[in-house]
Amino acid sequence: MDRIRIVGGNKLNGIIPISGAKNAALPLMIAGLLSEDTLILDNVPRLADVAQLQRILGNHGVDIMSAGKRPGDHEYQGQTLHISAADIIDTTAPYELVSRMRASFWVIAPLVARMHEAKVSLPGGCAIGTRPVDLLIMALEKLGAEMTIDGGYVIAKAPGGLKGANIDFPKVTVSGTHVALMAATLAKGTTVITNAACEPEIVDVADCLNKMGARIAGAGTTRIVVEGVTKLRGARHTVLPDRIETGTYAMAVAMTGGDVQLAGARPELLQSALDVLTQAGAIISVNNEGIRVARNGAGIRPVTVSTAPFPGFPTDLQAQLMSLMACADGSSHITETIFENRFMHVQELARFGARISLDGETATIEGIKKLRGAPVMATDLRASVSLVIAGLAAEGETMVNRVYHLDRGFERLEDKLSACGATIERISG
Ligand code: EPZ
Repeated sequence: MDRIRIVGGNKLNGIIPISGAKNAALPLMIAGLLSEDTLILDNVPRLADVAQLQRILGNHGVDIMSAGKRPGDHEYQGQTLHISAADIIDTTAPYELVSRMRASFWVIAPLVARMHEAKVSLPGGCAIGTRPVDLLIMALEKLGAEMTIDGGYVIAKAPGGLKGANIDFPKVTVSGTHVALMAATLAKGTTVITNAACEPEIVDVADCLNKMGARIAGAGTTRIVVEGVTKLRGARHTVLPDRIETGTYAMAVAMTGGDVQLAGARPELLQSALDVLTQAGAIISVNNEGIRVARNGAGIRPVTVSTAPFPGFPTDLQAQLMSLMACADGSSHITETIFENRFMHVQELARFGARISLDGETATIEGIKKLRGAPVMATDLRASVSLVIAGLAAEGETMVNRVYHLDRGFERLEDKLSACGATIERISG
């Protein structure tokens, strides 16, 4: 199994190109199931999760062509996928495939909307909490699907097609909103989704669906209205930049010091995180090419932060912020409100010497002057990258094990960081 070796202590200086967002690319690829025509997606990141979803869609009979690079393309340019779901030959998504990636469960929505039936294994994914799918099932039930659970599979049937409905989510859910939105595009009549998630990835998917002929209004607000149509057509769409990758590298620079241009980043996608970084002492400026992050000399100031649905501070940056606060001049408090068990990085950060105590959903971090490198591993994607950030700032050598988690969500992580002066390498095997 691959490992990543880091020798910490170097400042980061240079340019980091930001990739397309994993959490938009995945639902956009799934949306390809809604049409017989080809959906072309540009700026799709080259990630293990994308490759895994290609296999899952392939199992339903979807042809996916990945266009090669063209002269003049930047070496980091994302790939272009041509997704053609002309013939869906199988409406079952088996355990072996779905158990590896939670988002693949979402295929249930386009399958039942277009084919009027779907059988999808209950999902797996990152070990960050219980992560039920009750609200996704509730949304499809409201739209008229008959839902049963049997042998670890969720079975959805709607022989006469889905029908528009009012779907009021009792809590904000990104997955529930994606599923309701995709399914409603082909339902008969009007669907109103209230307490909808406002995440930029929802807006990106809604934009793409509208290009495909859907009639969606209000994406990005808590009330989304969908007028169902009978068919969706092909379209071409560019995946928006990854706000979590942007925030991760911004935190890395805030921690090591230096000056980095995050090329292609869009500040409005992560304003709350940029505000927290400014409060912590980083210098953030926005220019035509993206976001510039610097920290020179001054120490890191402690912060008090709670995660929240967009536009709040994202749970997917919580672990990275904790690494940063491990070296702050004082005590910080970070409260996780989205997932009940998203603190696996705490124990591993302690291996660097970090002083963190947990009380329910709040972590108190007593900053120390310097972390010391250590062998570490993590059980989820964002926790893993928080260990990379800690390793970059720590004295001496860090070995990050179980790198496959990083490969799920960070494109060419070690290349991007070493181009900015980090001593970081992948050790294969
Ligand atoms: C998405 O997960 C992201 N994944 C997550 O990123 C992200 O952490 C999360 O949204 C929150 O922003 C993708 O987009 C692929 P939710 P999702 O439905 O959609 C509860 C990463 O590292 N809930 O908004 O699964 C749930 O348990 C990943 O890239 C129910 O109770 O998150 C959680 O407490 C990790 N019942 C809360 O809602 C349900 O049926 C929010 O979950 C569904 C969710």
